[in-house]
Amino acid sequence: AEEMAIAHHGRPMVGDVAQFVAPDLPLPAGQPLQSLPRLPLTTAPDGTLQGQLIAAPHTRQLLAGKDTLFWAYNGQLPGPLIDVAAGSTLDLHFENRLPQPSTIHWHGLPVPADQDGLPQDAVAPGGQRRYRFTLPADFSGTCWYHPHPHHHTAEQVFRGLAGAFIIRQPNDPLAHLPEHHLLISDLRLDADARIPANTAADWLDGREGQFVLVNGQLRPQLHVAPGSLLRLRIWNATSARQLRLALPGASWYQVGTDGGLIERPQSLQQLHLAPAERAEVVVRLPATPSSPYTLQALPYARGKMVGREQTQSLPLMQLVPHGQAVVTPALPELLRQISPLPAPVREQRVLMAEKAADGPVPVQFLINGRSHDPERIDLYSVQGETEQWEIINGSDMDHPFHIHGAQFQLVSRIRDGEETPEPWLAWRDTVNLTHAERVKLRIRQDLPGLRMFHCHILEHETLGMMGNLMVKAAG
Ligand code: C2O
Ligand code: CU
Ligand code: CU
Repeated sequence: AEEMAIAHHGRPMVGDVAQFVAPDLPLPAGQPLQSLPRLPLTTAPDGTLQGQLIAAPHTRQLLAGKDTLFWAYNGQLPGPLIDVAAGSTLDLHFENRLPQPSTIHWHGLPVPADQDGLPQDAVAPGGQRRYRFTLPADFSGTCWYHPHPHHHTAEQVFRGLAGAFIIRQPNDPLAHLPEHHLLISDLRLDADARIPANTAADWLDGREGQFVLVNGQLRPQLHVAPGSLLRLRIWNATSARQLRLALPGASWYQVGTDGGLIERPQSLQQLHLAPAERAEVVVRLPATPSSPYTLQALPYARGKMVGREQTQSLPLMQLVPHGQAVVTPALPELLRQISPLPAPVREQRVLMAEKAADGPVPVQFLINGRSHDPERIDLYSVQGETEQWEIINGSDMDHPFHIHGAQFQLVSRIRDGEETPEPWLAWRDTVNLTHAERVKLRIRQDLPGLRMFHCHILEHETLGMMGNLMVKAAG
């Protein structure tokens, strides 16, 4: 009854929804895809990998004669790639040269709660700290990092702060394939090539830009040999854009999710990546290709929304056949084995919904009927105990649910009263819920401490669609 009362209230209009028209600026496009810059790491005598991340204002000229002021890690857009083996210990020195408090949150990584860049652990402007953690030997994945301070997460990410973080398992069955990284982000520029603040409509629907970039580039090109098998890791690092990806003409297979490889390659038509979600895919190009293959984002309706929907396919990048055809071996049938999490000892329930409100943003974004309060614990778990969480979207739009501290296994999705079991096992930390959808997932937090769970539309998270989970130490 509670959820029925909140759900389907009808989405209010915001004055500037229809007025958002971004200028069509001649950004350079079609250049060769650049690989993500790597974070230099030095190895201490005890094997600890040490590095440094500095968040600071950074100016670029994307358009001749016009400065665009970004906020960047180490002056790089996207931030530097951290690429380490499972089991690594990292010691990362962070300096905040932004005019706001900031943190670094290690999205998807099972790091101790006090190293996870929580809003409660912010680094003041001009301040610094170290993030130290050891990754579990059995953890691998395609993760990322971004700021997570109170009230400023959305802005710090849309101004440029985000980077990729890969954790590799030994004996990776796809290690022989050429690998490329595609970090997808949104950029909005005004007519003077400045990054404008959020409008009220952005706070409602989530911010999108007129440019969707891959590794910071507009529609880059990647040259590939005909017949090749390519491994791609793809990040949706946008604030709010649902990416329904297609690659017409080539065959492609999903081989991994947020938390590493799945058991068997899954042939893909489309790949849906919600904000913050990642995937690993393998692309097979025909031996006699005709023309370039365009990775594109298909139109997607994010619920019963007003205005601003992407209505046309958006080209993101091209794979351009180039050179001699190569013969590549078949994909392995079994990539790894994933054990299903055991029967849960506890159930938790999370309702994501909106409520009409007075103010420039005419709704409040709530979890279990409440707006985020950093001082309030919303749910309790116990370290090492498997739980089943039911997440309910009681709103008129999509909300991607994300939880810190552990990867989960989706059990089923429920739509119109019909429950569909997940067809294959996978480790994830983010799952999209379309409007009026529910999902069941199993999760086990292996480390004690404070964790957040929230909508990963960063505007919704920033406005309070976030809860605190306290994981009590076992025993
Ligand atoms: Cu990437 Cu709390 O999130
Ligand atoms: Cu996270
Ligand atoms: Cu949301």
